Amino acid sequence: MIPNPGPLLYEGKAKRVFKSIDSDDEVVVEFKNTATAFNALKKAEFEDKGRLNCQISAYLFELLEQEGIPTHYLGLMSDSWMGAQKVEVIPLEIVIRNVAAGSLCRETPIKPGTNLSPALLDIYYKDDSLGDPLLTEERLERLEVINHQEKNEIENLARTINRLLTAFFVEIDLTLVDFKLEFGTNHEGQIILADEISPDTCRLWDKRTSDPKKRILDKDRFRQDLGFVVDAYGEVLKRVQGACAKPRNYR
Ligand code: TMP
Ligand code: ASP
Repeated sequence: MIPNPGPLLYEGKAKRVFKSIDSDDEVVVEFKNTATAFNALKKAEFEDKGRLNCQISAYLFELLEQEGIPTHYLGLMSDSWMGAQKVEVIPLEIVIRNVAAGSLCRETPIKPGTNLSPALLDIYYKDDSLGDPLLTEERLERLEVINHQEKNEIENLARTINRLLTAFFVEIDLTLVDFKLEFGTNHEGQIILADEISPDTCRLWDKRTSDPKKRILDKDRFRQDLGFVVDAYGEVLKRVQGACAKPRNYR
């Protein structure tokens, strides 16, 4: 079923955001089948990816809400659509790393697979035209995107989310290697978790195999041309589904 949303507000690489016809404080988000990597240098379509990411995100947002984390998620509308609170997106990407992988290993001598306890929190400036640069503490301060108190609030939320998600994924035999979060401010001025939490934005390794390629169940399958992208996302949804109650519907 394709919902009947209001006008398109914004189209990103993996989602479209529409006005809600019911409320000015709400939006309708469509998850696309498009996958991009390396700042969209690499791009492909994967049948069913939108549905899988939408469903996985819905389960994870609900799980976090039950633990007191404020999120933009309001409910599922159909397979690949969800209702969400409208937010002013804070142009930062908060990356939490539990195990060294990806850019951390390209940019530093830290070896892939190194345990990073306590988790490493990296903040990037969200701007594709600048290539989403990694920020230093002082650069973040100079940008004046968030004040000191908001920075503390976002970091505390991100670390709590990491604790909750890591524990949840362990139960379903997945290692949460690293992931990216985005936050926004809702109409009440509250900072809430926005965007998505899915294999597009997390690295997830299957604990049921030690094969370094087979264990990858996230967008690295696309980044590294490993194939079976949708199968991997499907396996993540299957395990998440098996451990959670069905997500609520939007309206
Ligand atoms: P990185 O190793 O490329 O820095 O990525 C760290 C984590 O953040 C990884 O789980 C993928 C996620 N991520 C995004 O969701 N969007 C992005 O644009 C980037 C660069 C990373
Ligand atoms: N999402 C980013 C892009 O589209 C980077 C990535 O996830 O690798 O380019």
